[in-house]
Amino acid sequence: MAKRVFIKTYGCQMNVYDSARMVDLLVPLGFLVADTPQDADLVILNTCHIREKAAEKVYSELGLIRRMKAAKARRGGNMMIAVAGCVAQAEGAEIMRRAPCVDLVFGPQSYHRLPELIARAPGAGVLDTSFSAEPKFDYLPEATAPQGVTAFLTVQEGCDKFCSFCVVPYTRGAEYSRPVAQVLAEARHFIGDGVREITLLGQNVNAYHGEGLDGRECGLGRLIRTLAELPGLDRIRYTTSHPRDVDDELIAAHREVPQLMPFLHLPVQSGSDRVLILMNRRHTAGDYRRIVERLRSARSDLALSSDLIVGYPGETDEDFQATLDLVGEVRFAQAFSFKYSPRPGTPAASAAGQIAEQVKSERLAALQLLLARQQRDFNEACVGRVLPVLFEKPGRREGQLVGRSPYLQSVHVAASADRIGKIAPTLMSGASANSLSGSLVEAVAI
Ligand code: 5AD
Ligand code: SF4
Repeated sequence: MAKRVFIKTYGCQMNVYDSARMVDLLVPLGFLVADTPQDADLVILNTCHIREKAAEKVYSELGLIRRMKAAKARRGGNMMIAVAGCVAQAEGAEIMRRAPCVDLVFGPQSYHRLPELIARAPGAGVLDTSFSAEPKFDYLPEATAPQGVTAFLTVQEGCDKFCSFCVVPYTRGAEYSRPVAQVLAEARHFIGDGVREITLLGQNVNAYHGEGLDGRECGLGRLIRTLAELPGLDRIRYTTSHPRDVDDELIAAHREVPQLMPFLHLPVQSGSDRVLILMNRRHTAGDYRRIVERLRSARSDLALSSDLIVGYPGETDEDFQATLDLVGEVRFAQAFSFKYSPRPGTPAASAAGQIAEQVKSERLAALQLLLARQQRDFNEACVGRVLPVLFEKPGRREGQLVGRSPYLQSVHVAASADRIGKIAPTLMSGASANSLSGSLVEAVAI
């Protein structure tokens, strides 16, 4: 009988990508993917360590899974429990100590060794959070896990920027870019599998500098142009980028590559230069404004998204007001905002001037109010426009599909299932806080 693996994925899109690659590694060992953990032979928690309570969430989930493991053992079965991802990387030994039900702990840079680790784990308890000298990508099998209409493709991993609040350089390691040939091969494979839209992933994706097909270094702008030549790839996106690494080539790609979608996630974190220096961001609020201006003059309909942190150690009311001012000027289509959360081992965790929880909460509420208004305004401004929608999956209601606009908004449309995987012009007829509704243009009575 086939063995079953259940993977629960937390955190960012890169973890989603990693989980899919873990499936690619497990299928040749005879594993099928299970929808629930109850009867799985292997349960993997692919964890995130970016903000608070992540580790606690993992321990409480482990409590539930431990009981399932015990129940399965009573029925004479066996369940192997693995913790992967960034919490595993940061706290591997602690997890093994605190949760003896865990058989296997491995980090983001060691999961290519999964088959060997699984073989070693029974009865042993295996911990592998090493960073190999050679990139794991050279050891991963060809991507085979079904992707659907859209897929993530990791082109860059790790970070050398060391923003003082961030745990990523410690959990994901140093910056690495995959060679263009490897990226192209994976993209071709995805497209052959029915993928129409690829999101290029990296913790610092626009720092991409992989080996080009000509052996010379290739930046993200040129990689996007190369990918745009692949027949069948209708849409390209990339995330997450850093303002420092937005170069002329990338801006030109936004101007000239029609497949590159006019939506960009460009974290600013704060609107105060004083806080940006404390954060070691290496850009000012003015730099950010200028980059946005240049991007928008290259692509006038470019919609922006961002990440913002409130309550960074030392942030004053004036600093926070500068963030509100910047947000007010730039006008985001969508954005994520967070209370600063001290991450063990990062410089900011031990910095002076930690902000009271109450103040963080008040600032977050004020910022989120502004961002929600901007998002609603952006969505409402789309009503009455005809936008190309890529249909991804059935909607909640019978006869309805959900797709994405170029600006990454979810769009609910009455359409038959044969539209999935296709792009159709759609008239936007309604907007809510988080999504749009529309109708196929050919179905609209003129
Ligand atoms: N506290 C709060 N937010 C954080 N982020 C990263 N580290 C922290 C932290 N310690 C946010 C940043 C980043 C996003 C992925 O998570 O805004 O861009
Ligand atoms: Fe979380 Fe960052 Fe790790 Fe992604 S890379 S899982 S966001 S800690």
